Amino acid sequence: MQYKRVLLKLSGEALMGDRQYGIDPKRLAEYAKEIKEVVDKGIEVAIVIGGGNIFRGVAGAANGMDRVQGDHMGMLATCINGLALQSALEDEDVHTRLQTALEIKEVAEPYIKRKAIRHLEKGRVVIFGAGTGNPYFTTDTAAVLRAIEIHADAILKGTRVDGVYDADPEKVKDAVKFESITFKDVINKGLKVMDMTAFTLSEENKLPIIIFDMNTKGNLNRLVSGEKVGTIVEN
Ligand code: GTP
Repeated sequence: MQYKRVLLKLSGEALMGDRQYGIDPKRLAEYAKEIKEVVDKGIEVAIVIGGGNIFRGVAGAANGMDRVQGDHMGMLATCINGLALQSALEDEDVHTRLQTALEIKEVAEPYIKRKAIRHLEKGRVVIFGAGTGNPYFTTDTAAVLRAIEIHADAILKGTRVDGVYDADPEKVKDAVKFESITFKDVINKGLKVMDMTAFTLSEENKLPIIIFDMNTKGNLNRLVSGEKVGTIVEN
């Protein structure tokens, strides 16, 4: 196997499927099946999920809401998604633990690094909710932070685009995909992989980011098996 322990970053929007808001149970079940395949291979999986299908702090601020208030709402949205994903994984008989950066003890365990690692060693999927627990940080930053803390081999960022291109492939027809690219080249070419806080944290800690299309069936499994899927960003 290419990786022993990975941190999977899923966007909240992806959970909407074809809907305009919320969670599509069909999409959720598909994701759970994909994740189960990887867990069954003996790979340790931690997950950070966004909350954009429910609420985004930045969008709230754009409409005049206090940014911190909005980010707190966004963090709670990631907990809702975490609970949904936990249920879907348990439906597939995958053992899971949800740990949150904001304490909601009756609902989920508080984030404790050592406990998270122990869960992973026991083959449980650990879902990290509430981002970093701080406003002004994205769930991409939470993903990088947690990945570093738990010594993950890589961040697998599931998106609807199958990698990093030299131009936006949804707008430019002949955009060219990179199989691999360095952190420096991403910056020099003005490409966007993650927000700068997340990106530089990953670069400084030599944590590779793999951008791949999570909506193509079997992709996650192929990726962890060492097939060339998506784009790897590394030092
Ligand atoms: P090991 O002792 O390593 O096997 O881990 P464990 O998670 O099985 O043990 P623990 O006794 O800590 O947890 C048992 C169950 O309680 C698990 O489902 C945990 O997710 C849950 N749990 C543990 N701590 C908390 C908490 O603070 N809040 C909530 N809501 N659940 C918790």
